[in-house]
Amino acid sequence: MRENVLHLKAPGNWINDPNGFIYYDGWYHLFFQHFPYAPVWGTMHWGHAVSRDLVHWKHLGIAVFPTKSYDRNGVFSGSAIERGGELCLYYSAVRYLKENPENIHCAPEGGFETSQAMITSSDGFHFENWKDKRQIIPVIHNREMADPADTRDPKVWREMGRYYMVLGSTWEKKQGQAVFFISEDGEHWEFLSRQPKEAFGHTLECPDLFRLGDQRILLGSPMGVMKDGLEYPSNAMGWRAEFQPETGKLELLGEGQLVDCGMDLYAPQTTLDRDGRRVMIAWMRMPKAAEPENSEDGLPWNGMMCLPRVVEVKDGHIYFRVHPEVEKHFAPAAAAEMTVLMEGWKEQGRGMGIFRIKTKLPEGEGLNIGGYRIWREDGAIKTDRSQVFQGISGYRTCFSTPQVEGECRLDIFVEPNLIEIFVNEGEYVLSSVVYDMKPFVEGKADSWYVFS
Ligand code: FRU
Repeated sequence: MRENVLHLKAPGNWINDPNGFIYYDGWYHLFFQHFPYAPVWGTMHWGHAVSRDLVHWKHLGIAVFPTKSYDRNGVFSGSAIERGGELCLYYSAVRYLKENPENIHCAPEGGFETSQAMITSSDGFHFENWKDKRQIIPVIHNREMADPADTRDPKVWREMGRYYMVLGSTWEKKQGQAVFFISEDGEHWEFLSRQPKEAFGHTLECPDLFRLGDQRILLGSPMGVMKDGLEYPSNAMGWRAEFQPETGKLELLGEGQLVDCGMDLYAPQTTLDRDGRRVMIAWMRMPKAAEPENSEDGLPWNGMMCLPRVVEVKDGHIYFRVHPEVEKHFAPAAAAEMTVLMEGWKEQGRGMGIFRIKTKLPEGEGLNIGGYRIWREDGAIKTDRSQVFQGISGYRTCFSTPQVEGECRLDIFVEPNLIEIFVNEGEYVLSSVVYDMKPFVEGKADSWYVFS
């Protein structure tokens, strides 16, 4: 079926979070939150794409969809593991308690409940939505444990011969919390702990706790943390963490950092790649659908994934680096080719014409890529997308990394609706969704590359 390169995009209509990201039986599987009927959020399904190399993705249609009374209003986010050769997908199952007569795809405020469920598949390609689902954690009605509605996004892993699950949740809609469950077999789960944290906003979404060498990292998306009244109030964060598997006690070390300084990125999920690296993919939120002419089947589409990024930690800082599979696909090119590529964007298939610019940016200097401005000021990398984000109000347009010490090497990936800037090999990443870029690049760059 349809192929995407580098950035997996909605196959048409709507996608949000990456789900069930796993390398299983020779394929990378990436599922995602998907509303197949319109380019807006609605009753959630899991769309499915596969790749051999994290670069070329093939859309396979819908893998998981509502069939049971407990998931009748949505198959929400979750994760995958391999268990005895089978692929197990864990997800949050949503059931509305009230109906909005004018829109059956959204629940009136507070009118829903959430349980946790799983579906197994013997090959990762076939999913029996009627037969192979089961509810594994019923709706939680004990406030000492978790919230009956806002407890979701199971991330499951195996450690010391047991299965662990972390869920995003809230305490009384006031305090975000991570909730842990434990299991001997991956099906029968017991409550382990709830861990409220100031840093988790009013509700935590999509937590992902993993080991990196002898440390642990928690990625998560706390809601309501940005208080400037602009979209988006929720943002993806990363923390170094300590976790005691016996008690379920979680401690965050330090303040945490933005996963991406551009703040469009949300709901990151990681897995181990073929070679054991920790690789992250996340949803790039788009305030409006992209043009149908950029989609192979003529459908408007809203939502795409960022480049696969390798997560590393060094001197207490979390790095998000360009994945080596991505490195393999860029060939040197002449500066003049970029404008030609940009001119062809409207006609080319999706994902074609991607280019990459590498340059050192001294204080006071900058680049302008099709109307997107990047410059260095007070040591930080700053960007302004106002020229390529026109007619969209209520969203941030200017962004900045923290101050960068010493030299500043930029590695910039550009395609029609997304610019990703890796600063000093992933010390910071700043990515922006953009629209209607003009075909020009201004400013000095050290080298140019095109996707090949
Ligand atoms: C995050 C999120 C998840 C939820 C899913 C629903 O973007 O709100 O918490 O499972 O999206 O689509």
